[in-house]
Amino acid sequence: MSPRIPLNRSDFPPGFVFGTATSAYQVEGSGFGQAGSSHWDSFAATPGTVADGSDGARACDHYHRFAGDLDLVAAAGFDLYRFSTSWARVMPRGTGAPNEAGLDFYDRLVDAMLARGLTPALTLYHWELPSALADRGGWANRETAHAFAGFAALMARRLGDRVWSWATINEPWCVSWLSHFEGHHAPGLRDIRATARAMHHVGLAHGLAMDALRAEGAANLGVVLNFEPALPGDDSPASHAAAARHDAIYNRFFVQAMTQGRYPPDALEGLGPHLPPGWQADLATISRPLDWLGVNYYTLKRLRAAPGPWPGLCAAPAQGATTDMGWEIAPQALTGLLTWLARGYTGALPLYVTENGMAARDVMRAGGVQDEDRIAYLAAHLQAARAAIAAGVPLRGYVIWSLMDNFEWAFGYDKRFGLVHVDFNSLQRTPKASYHAVTRMLKGAAG
Ligand code: FCB
Repeated sequence: MSPRIPLNRSDFPPGFVFGTATSAYQVEGSGFGQAGSSHWDSFAATPGTVADGSDGARACDHYHRFAGDLDLVAAAGFDLYRFSTSWARVMPRGTGAPNEAGLDFYDRLVDAMLARGLTPALTLYHWELPSALADRGGWANRETAHAFAGFAALMARRLGDRVWSWATINEPWCVSWLSHFEGHHAPGLRDIRATARAMHHVGLAHGLAMDALRAEGAANLGVVLNFEPALPGDDSPASHAAAARHDAIYNRFFVQAMTQGRYPPDALEGLGPHLPPGWQADLATISRPLDWLGVNYYTLKRLRAAPGPWPGLCAAPAQGATTDMGWEIAPQALTGLLTWLARGYTGALPLYVTENGMAARDVMRAGGVQDEDRIAYLAAHLQAARAAIAAGVPLRGYVIWSLMDNFEWAFGYDKRFGLVHVDFNSLQRTPKASYHAVTRMLKGAAG
């Protein structure tokens, strides 16, 4: 008998929701259904960008297999399914005439959730920017923010009667910094000016989409931010300063803009000169009132100073156990993060952990995967979430990344985050031990 998660639903407040997540490009198969090309298609088609040279053209073929996948979500006892909608699939040119086949797909997907008693939690943008907009500068171009509001309105008109919650953007830091400064994700730039503009325009896109969604009558609107608590790699003042700069860029920039209408001064030190003229006037839009905030948490980061231009920092080695991504396993930092958010930024606003989980070197043996490390990771993070609730944080739900192994961006199919194993030759799904442990937690008694 594999290990259990020593918790059950009664360990969480009434109404607390449990879910699992995927995203469009990572599971659907961008080659199906007359989807338009996105910057992830062209990024992945560029040698040296994705570790195993793969792309999302077929991915898990969720486009055709979603019914069976949703059966797995429902059979585990989850309340909610967090999914995303591909902008390029429904608006192949980013603006203008929609692809009816794309809209029909999301219709069927949402209906299939409802038919199984699953609550649809929709994220509008999980990174597949239509190529036509990328050609015009992508997120560095202010027009992309306005185009995004048009996409949001289209989706609200089509699905607003059935979707429970709307997130505008998944992980603005990844959309901007990781993709335009570090170059790890599409469009693969390394340019501080493009980065600053992308950071600002993605926030503006969020705010304009909030307005567009409300105008269409959509309710329960939020955004999903990722956080990585920053620690100094050693006790030197330089490492403390590096950690503070990382904290400003990664952890405070978006949440402060979206909840308080200002950017952290220590982020503006480096980004200010590169922001578009008149950026201050957009902060009122960027800080439109949220109905909830989604928190993606995987790990913390240790930092030290590095020579060279701002921000002059680099990662210091992890301490203790790490996941297959090399990410330090630090459940206690989740408690600290949630209390820091509630006390400093979000107050009584409902919080959801919208992503948490780990990559592991999962191997199929005798028809199953004994991913005990993942079970221990989830158990520890659920305990950390409980500790935050006990400290008064209005945490209302917890969502596991991911339902199934999928296209893990620049790592291709080599990093497995799923509760369900996917054989990328046959596309066969096999629930792992962690899937069964979660099922027992959600459906069974404690212990
Ligand atoms: C998050 C992304 C998600 C997945 C996990 C591992 O940053 O939102 O798509 O890649 O990391």
